[in-house]
Amino acid sequence: MAELKLLFEHAHKPDFRTLKGYLANDGYKGLKKSLKMEKQAIIDEVKASGLRGRGGAGFPTWIKWNGIPKDKTQPHYILCNADEGEPGTFKDKQLMEECPFELIEGMTIAGFCTQAEVGYIYIRGEFVDAARSLRNAIDEAYAGGYLGKNIQGSGFDFDLYIHLGAGSYECGEESALMSSLMGERGMPRLKFPHAPLPTIAGLFDRPTVINNVETYCCAPYIVDRGGEWYATLGASTKNSRGTKLFSVSGHVNKPGNYEIEFGTTLMELLELSGGMKGGKLKACVPGGSSVPIINATDTEIAVIGYEEMAEVKTMVGSGACMFLNEHTCIVSFIWRTALFYANESCGKCTPCREGTKWMEQILRRIVMGNGQPGDMELLLQITEQIDGRSFCGLGDAAAWPVAAALRVFPEEFEYYIKHGTSMVKSAESKAMAPAWQQPVLA
Ligand SMILES: Cc1cc2nc3c(=O)[nH]c(=O)nc-3n(C[C@H](O)[C@H](O)[C@H](O)COP(=O)(O)O)c2cc1C
Ligand code: SF4
Repeated sequence: MAELKLLFEHAHKPDFRTLKGYLANDGYKGLKKSLKMEKQAIIDEVKASGLRGRGGAGFPTWIKWNGIPKDKTQPHYILCNADEGEPGTFKDKQLMEECPFELIEGMTIAGFCTQAEVGYIYIRGEFVDAARSLRNAIDEAYAGGYLGKNIQGSGFDFDLYIHLGAGSYECGEESALMSSLMGERGMPRLKFPHAPLPTIAGLFDRPTVINNVETYCCAPYIVDRGGEWYATLGASTKNSRGTKLFSVSGHVNKPGNYEIEFGTTLMELLELSGGMKGGKLKACVPGGSSVPIINATDTEIAVIGYEEMAEVKTMVGSGACMFLNEHTCIVSFIWRTALFYANESCGKCTPCREGTKWMEQILRRIVMGNGQPGDMELLLQITEQIDGRSFCGLGDAAAWPVAAALRVFPEEFEYYIKHGTSMVKSAESKAMAPAWQQPVLA
């Protein structure tokens, strides 16, 4: 299956970043149509489209939009999660840099149908080019009457602000993001069912829709071409509709962002990315570093869809697909992943604060050649004590990769613990390891 470019159709065209260029390529058709529609009819189109959130969890978008109170008694907010901190993911960055008006239009449509008058884009601080591109586009949208008071003479007012985060993975978790935006520490808040949903009490304790960049970017196309049309994309899958952006990295010849239709296979995605580099396929982490790793056999049969990926015990996640070749030491790879989560744990809850550190330390001693009998069992036990027992999703995200690696590649851990060195002895493996670790692999 070839690439199917919907959101990325005009990416790479420099003038698509300007209002003039955006309008020349059918931009703002969705918003103009929306402004003449009933608010509920827009939400119904999103429902018909089958759009699910692209931030990782795949939650149906229309349910969030529909959950905002219809009788407005207080301010409503539209919030965009542009933190994109999951290792391997870089699709939102490209969307914001090259297609900023898609995001602005999508958020404005969401604002119109949920009666919100203010939107915030919480963008990762390092994304300077993306923030600059959005800043220019927002200025042009104000000047052109697509933001601000009385948008296109409709009587609808909508203001949009950019907020640059200070660079923390945890600030991508929606309640931590809201805390950070409100000037508090970027730590998560109590969630449903122990606290109201963000649609009832989100940002500033007001009704809030929070979606990922890619999710909002789909809205203009859904309204313009119809939810039913959108739902024809990906129709071969059980319940995944539309296109999905995948950030492909690892041992491939052409790493980059690819837009594919749901129902495409992982092998087709690999082919689009130029095939394997430096050796045969060994493993794949298809949806960002937090999703379970799968071996080559499962990669060869995996179909990209939320339910389909679950059949091979992994996930679509945020769409960051890492292909690993035969020279990859899985133990070292998982240790590097665990190191990331241990560093990013905010420390609020015990299972994650303690567990992520313990996992990293045990994996570190294994890759340093000091693994001990029982380390695999201990690691597994820790993953079980973190998974489902943490205050927010970061704990689960830290536990899943370790648990999956132990399940899928047990022989690599056994060998490393027994011999004090990796069973993968190729030069490529050494090159992947940080300098201080290389003597262990020699
Ligand atoms: C630790 C952690 C980090 C997250 N980082 C991001 C992120 O960078 N971008 C994002 O869109 N969602 C991220 N999420 C998911 C968000 O909490 C939330 O589900 C998402 O923004 C909802 O948007 P969607 O429905 O459009 O997917 C993260 C979740 C967790 C637990
Ligand atoms: S799981 Fe707990 S410690 Fe980890 S990031 Fe979430 S709240 Fe913080």
